[in-house]
Amino acid sequence: MTTITLVRGDITEQSVDAIVNAANSSLLGGGGVDGAIHRRGGPDILAACRDLRASLPQALNSVRAGEAPFGKGLPTGQAVATTAGRLDARWVIHTVGPVWQPSGSDPSLLASCYRESLRIADELGARTIAFPAISTGVYRWPMEDAARIAVETVRDTATAVDEVRFVLFDERAYGAFAAALRVSGG
Ligand code: APR
Repeated sequence: MTTITLVRGDITEQSVDAIVNAANSSLLGGGGVDGAIHRRGGPDILAACRDLRASLPQALNSVRAGEAPFGKGLPTGQAVATTAGRLDARWVIHTVGPVWQPSGSDPSLLASCYRESLRIADELGARTIAFPAISTGVYRWPMEDAARIAVETVRDTATAVDEVRFVLFDERAYGAFAAALRVSGG
């Protein structure tokens, strides 16, 4: 039975088996959660990400004339695991959320971030996992909708993970996830 918990705080301060990073396809760092994880986790995480990029299937990594040396990197909705470096966790699971588009965005890609991260957690044997509110920062996904997708997906995904912890950075995010949890019968 998976327990869903909400924490108001910084995901890099969590003591869990796996911390989920709201990454971008390059896997080479960024701001927000990504920046905090690399800053606090140290260089080993980036080194592991570079190794992963080099090993991504050629199709993902195809180098076309003029393209960045590592091609397209990790597709939206997919997840990969690395060491957690200096973080109080065993792994970081990097997943790439969808960017919200006014013309319409595909919620199944955001759901896939949670589903794929749980699949990877099960493969690793992780029993506790901390998620940020994926796509709700730089990627501009509306918080209430992102919270609904996150909570519904975790509820609907069979996993051996005992605790799924949503770590919310501010009151707005916390309130949205608390409401989504209530609506989903939490
Ligand atoms: N702990 C928990 N939550 C955090 C933290 C933190 N240390 N820092 C930011 N957040 C929250 C933000 O307030 C937001 O609600 O995480 C949510 C996701 O925001 P982003 O980190 O901007 O992630 P996202 O919207 O998925 O955009 C990903 O941003 O940082 C870059 O490299 C990253 O290009 C990628 C993009």
